[in-house]
Amino acid sequence: MTRRTRKRIAILISGRGSNMAALIAAAIDPAFPAEIVGVVSNRADARGLEIAKTHNIPIKVISSRDYDGREAHDAAIHEAITGFKAEIVCLAGYMRLLTPDFVKKWKGRMINIHPALLPSFRGLDTHARALASGVRIHGCTVHFVTPEMDEGPIIAQAAVPVLTDDTEETLGERVLKIEHRLYPLALRLVVEGRVRMSDGVAVFSDVEDERRDLAIVSPGERRS
Ligand code: GAR
Repeated sequence: MTRRTRKRIAILISGRGSNMAALIAAAIDPAFPAEIVGVVSNRADARGLEIAKTHNIPIKVISSRDYDGREAHDAAIHEAITGFKAEIVCLAGYMRLLTPDFVKKWKGRMINIHPALLPSFRGLDTHARALASGVRIHGCTVHFVTPEMDEGPIIAQAAVPVLTDDTEETLGERVLKIEHRLYPLALRLVVEGRVRMSDGVAVFSDVEDERRDLAIVSPGERRS
């Protein structure tokens, strides 16, 4: 695929932007089938904005405080990403629930990464909740976005062991590392049309190579 035919990706962030950085890093390779054409943050202080700037990627801050209600805020975001001529939207730590109208506009073309093996641990504090529940495997999920929070057809998941001496921080770091591997892989599948959303489910074709690359199995207990 030549550079000109690469799909145009907009990324929505709210904070640190490490998943955004992983997507930018993947797209630096001209063989990657997508390019990052713009980053939108709902927070002016999002650290990810500086990272995007260093890569000369256009950024836009669209704060909810400047809009009267969620619909108007999301309409401004829609305008910004259509202004970037984006074809696909990646949510990368975007911490606001999007309105059904916005989600509908990007149906099948918007994906999210969540720091848990969905459908377990939707919402916030996923690592603390995973530890408290005693699961021995934890991980992350990339899924198509539907109006309900952290729902939508699953595109790809990656797992890590939960170690007996894990804290929320150590477990979170281990998950974040695989988030950075999983998100570019999942985006590639979407961009290449090897996964698509149809009638509310993910439909796959030709994904055997990626499958071979994953699978991390617990119990991963540290020996004392
Ligand atoms: C990531 O762990 C991402 O999975 C999570 O926020 C973090 C953002 O970090 N997203 C959610 O919880 C969405 N439900 P980052 O800004 O460094 O990518």
